[in-house]
Amino acid sequence: MRLVIMGLPGAGKGTQAALLSEKFGIPHISTGAMFRAAKGAGGPLAQKIAQHIDQGELVPDGLALAVVRARLEQEDCRDGFLLDGFPRTVSQARMFEQLLDEMGIKLDAAIDIVISADEAVRRIVERKTCPRCGATYPGGTEVCSVCQVPLAKREDDDEPTARKRLLIYEEQTWPLVEFYRERGLLLEVHGEGPIDQVFHRVLAQLRGLQADEVLG
Ligand code: AP5
Ligand code: MG
Repeated sequence: MRLVIMGLPGAGKGTQAALLSEKFGIPHISTGAMFRAAKGAGGPLAQKIAQHIDQGELVPDGLALAVVRARLEQEDCRDGFLLDGFPRTVSQARMFEQLLDEMGIKLDAAIDIVISADEAVRRIVERKTCPRCGATYPGGTEVCSVCQVPLAKREDDDEPTARKRLLIYEEQTWPLVEFYRERGLLLEVHGEGPIDQVFHRVLAQLRGLQADEVLG
């Protein structure tokens, strides 16, 4: 299965992507996580990336595409993948469409996790992340259950930066909803409520997709 997962910052893309990746045995590819790792590695590219992500701004489209192209060419993506946070602009979506054509593969669906802006800000401000494995936790958790290290805040998770990210999403990423609707690939899922309930809604939409394929 080849999937894209979209939604406001804090919508639960990473949370749902981790569950889907485990269920379908496909790699979860988060461009945000890849950029944070590259930033942590240091050097001139790290500085360039930090300038954008720490301010809540998007990195240049060409850099995002280069990172995704290199990742999709890896062996573990041969039978499927789940892209979290890419594409994020119409220009990225067009370049991605071209890349998939070149690779001779097709996207199965673009999942849009829908929550309100207020809920997004609340979740982001409360969220803690594991500095070692990158796992995210809702407010109230202090230690990573896998790595047993204290959780930290992401650099871009303060309220002003979160609000800026929401504005950028509205201006630059929102048009992708229509982009994928026009191509018959959009699956819209209500993203509020318990995490397992949202996951069941996502699975129900994907089952509908598979039923459509079987029924032609
Ligand atoms: P990225 O890392 O993708 O951040 P984002 O889009 O802002 O989304 P988040 O990771 O903040 O939220 P999420 O939807 O994954 O939610 P989560 O599951 O953590 O990108 C970061 C930056 O990288 C960008 O700003 C940009 O600079 C750059 N970048 C990345 N991709 C790029 C691209 N393609 N082009 C250019 N630049 C790019 O959940 C949030 C919180 O809520 C967690 O604490 C979670 O535990 C909790 N939660 C989840 N589900 C629920 C629920 N149902 N109920 C209650 N709490 C929940
Ligand atoms: Mg995320």
